[in-house]
Amino acid sequence: MEASMLEETVQNPNPYPVVAELHYDDIWHLCKQSQELAWDPVRDIDWAALKEETSNLPDEVRQAGAEWWSLRAWMEHGATPYGAERLRQAIFEHLPFEVKQHVTNFILEELRHHQASFLIADALGEYQPTPRSDYFQMVIPKFHDEKDEKVMPFYAGMAVNTLFEQLSGELLTARYKNARYPQIRLACELILRDEARHIQFGRIIMRRFFDEISMDQKKLLGEKFAKKLRGSLLNGVYAVVNLPKDERQRSGSARALAAEYGLGATHPDEEVGIIAEALATIRQDVAPYDVPIPFIKEIEGENVTAALAAE
Ligand SMILES: [Fe+2]
Ligand SMILES: [Fe+2]
Repeated sequence: MEASMLEETVQNPNPYPVVAELHYDDIWHLCKQSQELAWDPVRDIDWAALKEETSNLPDEVRQAGAEWWSLRAWMEHGATPYGAERLRQAIFEHLPFEVKQHVTNFILEELRHHQASFLIADALGEYQPTPRSDYFQMVIPKFHDEKDEKVMPFYAGMAVNTLFEQLSGELLTARYKNARYPQIRLACELILRDEARHIQFGRIIMRRFFDEISMDQKKLLGEKFAKKLRGSLLNGVYAVVNLPKDERQRSGSARALAAEYGLGATHPDEEVGIIAEALATIRQDVAPYDVPIPFIKEIEGENVTAALAAE
């Protein structure tokens, strides 16, 4: 082989040699838990039973449920490009192997959540492989912006992500409580068990690395959190509050119908309250690390819920 061709195969930065030396036993513990608590959406949920139990629901309700769970599927899948970028970064920055293992597990688990969600949609009605809702089409291109990530150090960026895991975990808990059908409940429960580990990872990295993160970087972290929450997650992902009024009412009504029939959805009026409470908890959790989170007026403004209800 010519020397010039050999040079091309050498990557810069070079990910080798791989060093398998354990640095963080608590992160490794999460990796072992991930193996022990692994589940399979196809095998572990009785899809025939769900189809049977929901077969008598009015068509409109089944379609609302299918739309809702298709959106949920997309939200879960939406986490994987982010995960892929972090895995790449962890590899090329030579981070400890347990960090790479955790991020790999994270990607796999989000895809598992995606699969479980679209199987629910499929059992209820017509699964939408690409979200048909206009608002979701608007949100998709803005969902993940790698430029926002790249300005933060690895662990600060991952901490932002886990704050969102905390928010979505609270919303999913409410959806679990709403679910009247055992198979939907089980899917929510299994997803929540994985999410609890993702949240735990955030706690570990804040505890371990936040002493080394500068005040400017912490300020940036808070700003990025607020930007993503306001710019995309309140536009139909977590809640519909930042959508234009007409679109909010249309999309909200499908969610409301799915919630009314106990299909594991949240009523749009309820979502803002859940996010407000979760946000208050997040503020307390990050307070010891001096992470300033800007005021989120759509959620924390006075009488937000009352104003929405009055429209
Ligand atoms: Fe997930
Ligand atoms: Fe997650």
